[in-house]
This record gives sequence, structure tokens and C-alpha cells, in this order.
Amino acid sequence: MTQLLRTEKKLFAAALVLGVVFAGCKREDKPAEGSGPAAGGASGTAGATPGDGPILVGEYSSMTGAEATFGQSTHNGIMLAVEEVNAAGGIKGRKVEIKLYDTQGKTQEAGTAVTRLITQDKVTAVLGEVASSLSLAGGAVAQQFGVPMVTPSSTNERVTKIGDMIFRVCFIDPFQGYVMAKFSRDNLKAAKVAVLYDQSQAYSKGLKDAFVKSFTEMGGEIASEQAYNKGDSDFNAQLANIRDAKPDAIFIPGYYTDVGNIALQARKLGITAPLMGGDGWDSSELPKIAGEAIEGGYFSNHYSHEEQRPEVRNFVKAYQAKYSAVPDGLAAMGYDAARLLFDAMKRAASLSGKDLAQAIGETKDYASVTGKITIDAGRNARKPAVVLQIKGGKHAYVATIDPK
Ligand code: PHE
Repeated sequence: MTQLLRTEKKLFAAALVLGVVFAGCKREDKPAEGSGPAAGGASGTAGATPGDGPILVGEYSSMTGAEATFGQSTHNGIMLAVEEVNAAGGIKGRKVEIKLYDTQGKTQEAGTAVTRLITQDKVTAVLGEVASSLSLAGGAVAQQFGVPMVTPSSTNERVTKIGDMIFRVCFIDPFQGYVMAKFSRDNLKAAKVAVLYDQSQAYSKGLKDAFVKSFTEMGGEIASEQAYNKGDSDFNAQLANIRDAKPDAIFIPGYYTDVGNIALQARKLGITAPLMGGDGWDSSELPKIAGEAIEGGYFSNHYSHEEQRPEVRNFVKAYQAKYSAVPDGLAAMGYDAARLLFDAMKRAASLSGKDLAQAIGETKDYASVTGKITIDAGRNARKPAVVLQIKGGKHAYVATIDPK
């Protein structure tokens, strides 16, 4: 609380220095009624308080770079939710607008983007990032300023531990690691598995650790553990070690561009063991990069577009109508995160960071595309995971695994 007040004062001082009228900013810390400047420009919109503009929500996503489809799909999902909420009258009579910055998949850009969204654009809340390392960087900034952030799909355990302003609508990696360990033991009957992970990404390292822990607890053996770094393109040394260890399967908890190159090089080296991974595989680009090399591979994910639940059917239909594409997991998570945030805004006592965070934290059994969402005390969502298989370059549903 004291931190919030301090932040408030700092912003107020900065506003005075810049000679701008603080109440004219779009920051929503004050009750709407009566706080707007007299010259706020009554637009004549029925029901809107004079001075009330749209509610500005910030988004930071990787629109370009090696993880470009993550940001693009997430943004598509978010914009579908925005279109729907605005068509239904907005939130408390106000329209929602999104201000987007491209992180290019870079950690430094994530911190800069969230700083700009909050200090310059005065957003009410922040949506993003996808990659956990980027959410860790951006989340630290949002927490510092007391602005709520909802990450659609960052699964690393540490992300929501940043503080009371940081939420997520997805499951976490200790669970995802358990899911793939269980799947390799029960379905693939694997005794010995090799792992190859990106040691520069919080997500990849955390998911590797979780998988190794669960798999060994289930009586499995780790035949070889190999690492690479973001930007690497030659994986032959690591793969040669893995080939020599003769694993029954290989677990590759990385992002799709790297996974695609790894799969190609593995098959070239004569490795025929099945490949497995996590949600980082979820991109239509993966089969384009790897072709045959990734066929038959299994990965855990947040939803399957083949599920028959009405939430899934309605979403797939609306998304296809708007974008002429089948929505991937990222699109579904972006949509769910945005809808959940808008629902909390409707219930919140005010749109101050504190009130909004409280309303997000009180979300219970919220019907969503990726399953019912209840935000727990750790600001995480507890949900089942699905296992998908790449077949003919598409995602085929294999199994649903419930939380432990
Ligand atoms: N879970 C990944 C991370 O935390 C991001 C991701 C989510 C990627 C969903 C693809 C699909 O970094």
C-alpha cells in the first residue's frame, strides 16, 4: 500500500513537471465521477461520464523474431475478446482499447515496453508476455508501479511470485513436467529419456527440471541431459551425445524455431527415437520448419481446437470467421486472459491497481476456452493439460491429464 502511494506521488510529481493535467491522463486510479477535468471534452456518448475516455489496456508480445507466432496469435485472441466486449457495450459504458508493443522476443524489450505502457500510455492493466523470461522482466516493472498484469501463457513458477499484481490464466510448469513424464511412462512406456533444453530461458530450464524430477520419481532414468542457448543453430554436438546414450525418447522443452532445427538435425544424425516437448511447440511454423522430422512428436498444451466443449466450439468458429485460421493455444490463452481481465474490471470497485487486482484475484469458476478458471492464492490457475501429436503437420488430440 505504501508502495502504491509512493508510486502515485512520483507519477503526480512527474505530471506536474511535464506540465500536464494529471486528471486528464488515462490512468484509472481515481473514481471516475467528478474526477475528470471540466475541459475533458464531453463527447456526447450516452451514459459516459464527461472526461471518460476508453479504458486503455497495455499488451506486450513478440510480434517479430524467433517466437513471432506466439505474439501474433496471442494478439489475435486478445483483439477478438476486445471486439466482443465493445460490441456488448464495453465496461461500465466505456470502450476498451489495446496499446501494443512488440518485444521481438527480447528480455530487455519486455522491461522497456511495460515501463512505457505504464508511465507514458498510463494503461489500467497489462496483458503479456508469452515467454516466461519476458514476463519476469515485464512483471517486475508492473509490480513496482502497482499495475495489475495478467500473463496469458507464461508457465514458469516464478512469474506470479513476483508479487500481488501479477496473475496468470494458465497452469504452471511443475504440472506440465509431470504431465509429460506421466505420458512418457504410461503411454510411450519409456524407461530411458534424454533431455535437450535452452538454458537461457526460464521456461525451458524450469520445465526440464520439472520433467526430470517427475520422470525419475516415476522410476524412469535420464539417459543424457544436454543444453543450448537462445540463438544457437547447431545442435550436432549435443545430439551426438544423445544418440550415444540410446534413449527411448527425447524431451525438448524449447520454443518452436529451435525445436524445429533440433528435430531436423536429430533425424539427419540417424536418431529415430520419438520427440516430446511442452507448450513451446505450439506454432504452425514448427511443421513448416521441420517437416517429416517432427511428425509423430508429442507435446503438452493448454487446449485442443478439436474439443467439443461449447466454449471451444464457439471460440473456434468466431476466430475462424475473423482470421480465416484455426486458433492455436496461444490465441485461446490470449482470448481467455483478456476476457477474464474485462470480467474483473466489471466487478471491481474501481479501476485502481489495488481494486482491480482484488477483483482478478476473486475470479472463480470462470468459463473459458481453456477450461474453468479459478485464481488461487498464488495468483495461478489450476487446469487440466492436453497432450497433442503432430500428424500431417497438424495437431491431433491424444489425451487430457487432470491436475494432481
Ligand atoms: N509457456 C511458455 C513460457 O512460459 C510460453 C508458451 C505458452 C508457448 C503457450 C507456447 C504456448 O515461456
